[in-house]
Amino acid sequence: MQSYGFVGAGEIAAAIVEGLSTGVTDPPPIVLSPRNHDVAHNLAARFPNVRVCGSNQEVLDAAEAVVVAVRPQVAQEVLAQLAFRPEHVVVSAVAGVGLAQLSEWVSPAGRIVRSIPLPTAARAASRTAMYPDDAVARALFESVGDVVVPGDEPTLNTFSAATSTFAAHLDQLATIASWMAEHGVDPQDADGYVAHVYGELGRTLARHEGTLGELAGKHMTPGGINEQFLAGLRRDGVPDLVRRGLDDVLARVKGQ
Ligand SMILES: NC(=O)c1ccc[n+]([C@@H]2O[C@H](COP(=O)([O-])OP(=O)(O)OC[C@H]3O[C@@H](n4cnc5c(N)ncnc54)[C@H](OP(=O)(O)O)[C@@H]3O)[C@@H](O)[C@H]2O)c1
Repeated sequence: MQSYGFVGAGEIAAAIVEGLSTGVTDPPPIVLSPRNHDVAHNLAARFPNVRVCGSNQEVLDAAEAVVVAVRPQVAQEVLAQLAFRPEHVVVSAVAGVGLAQLSEWVSPAGRIVRSIPLPTAARAASRTAMYPDDAVARALFESVGDVVVPGDEPTLNTFSAATSTFAAHLDQLATIASWMAEHGVDPQDADGYVAHVYGELGRTLARHEGTLGELAGKHMTPGGINEQFLAGLRRDGVPDLVRRGLDDVLARVKGQ
């Protein structure tokens, strides 16, 4: 069975490890780097298939498929200290670091894949964008959800930029709830109501088969209040602001 090594045991590594190890009869062997100590040891205590190594190099020595999940700022320093082998498959989750750069840092490893796993990997529900296609990376991410493989690396950067919008989306929901509270609704009721409504809308969205525009249309009565609210935001330039914000993030992700 394929074993997996993780260099960097933080939020996203923990989500993938949890997804690989939960509710599976025969989970894969997983080795973790010693940092973050608490996260790594907590995962090893929860899952018998998970072991914490003494060093990053031990992770590479124990596994051919290596997931790199450290922050972008330390990636070069961490990888440069490690001795990779030609047979290693390096699956990077590091945002904004391109294949050309990675291949210098992990030489002589020849198979390198960039990926954008999502925290929902923890419940095997991450749609992971990855590039290029690779059987080992595909098997890994299909174990914790499904995959989408764009046609080239610049397009992967577009997926990466799109994932920058989660906090703003949730902040809009927080704005709606606090506006409700300012207008007389108990704050807890407001939060609970908004979370419920949008949680259920998310389920509808996940099951919907047409375009997002069609789904929006289904939630608008002609002349109704949804149409009124949307028209107001469009008139005030909100979609253009969203596009501009995404353009800025894309430039950063491309290293411009
Ligand atoms: N979180 C997400 O949803 C998400 C999604 C897709 C991609 N990513 C990418 O995944 C990477 C990790 O993100 P994250 O959110 O998981 O960050 P994080 O929670 O900060 O995890 C990074 C981990 O790297 C460890 N680390 C630092 N220096 C190390 C070293 N020399 N050797 C081994 N491990 C070291 C840190 O340990 P210490 O705590 O001891 O410093 C920490 O456990 C980032 O590049 C990010 O762009 C994240």
